[in-house]
Amino acid sequence: MGLNGNRLLLALLAAAAPATPATIHLCGDSTMAKGGGGSGIPTEGWGEYLKYSFGSDFTVHNAAIGGRSARSYTREGRFTDVANVVQPGDWVVVEFGHNDGGSLANDNGRTDCSGGGDETCETTYNGVKETVLTYPAYYKNAAKLFLSKGAKVILNSPTPNNICESGTCVDDVARFDYYAWNAAAELASPDVYHVPHKQYAVQAMKNLGPAKVNANYPKDHTHTGAYMADVMAGSFVLGLKCGTTALGKAAKNSTESLTSTFYGACIPQNSTVPI
Ligand SMILES: *[C@@H]1O[C@H](CO)[C@@H](O)[C@H](O)[C@H]1NC(C)=O
Repeated sequence: MGLNGNRLLLALLAAAAPATPATIHLCGDSTMAKGGGGSGIPTEGWGEYLKYSFGSDFTVHNAAIGGRSARSYTREGRFTDVANVVQPGDWVVVEFGHNDGGSLANDNGRTDCSGGGDETCETTYNGVKETVLTYPAYYKNAAKLFLSKGAKVILNSPTPNNICESGTCVDDVARFDYYAWNAAAELASPDVYHVPHKQYAVQAMKNLGPAKVNANYPKDHTHTGAYMADVMAGSFVLGLKCGTTALGKAAKNSTESLTSTFYGACIPQNSTVPI
């Protein structure tokens, strides 16, 4: 091939080269984190399975860390760390709740101030005085930080613990589910969404049944084995597909490929909240 041919080839290659893929950043706890928090027992977090739904179009940056709550992830500067690498056009998924409960009377550094608004609680943790905010306040502060970096934000409800532990799969509704939804609603930004991950996970687990589900919680009722981590990722992707995000449209899985399986149907949501 002559010089012109080479030039043409280079020009064609440049035109065909995909733009740098955007990144999906994941902020959460062990149920999302690499390794799944099993400490010796083989577990995995669902964030590790998300990449299969996006191929090379997106890079998944799994910044979830075991043992964290919305509060401790904030206090340790983890949201800031993620914000420092966010590029405009990226997505950030925030999902906490497993470590946010408990009582501040015996502060473990993770418990949030109770309430659904701008209540605050004073505590001393590890010898340091700290003003503790509510779960939705931490969610909203994180979302605002990521919006300021040009990202779109998805505020998830947390996955459930094993709802089939008793041998029957039961419903699981907790205040954090509502708070995650309400935080997204109150922000009222076209770039903030809510995925009711808990509800989609519960639906999938009920359809799978207790034998399959129980066999895939190898450690305790919180930390998922690889199979259940994959199920949690799939239930999030179905929640995305059933919503209106561009990210949901970009997911490789068709809605039908998910709804025709144990993942089940789209779950109607309150229309005042972007999902
Ligand atoms: C989604 O699609 C990807 C790519 O085909 C596949 O690897 C993954 O298992 C699918 N996820 C679900 C939940 O079906």
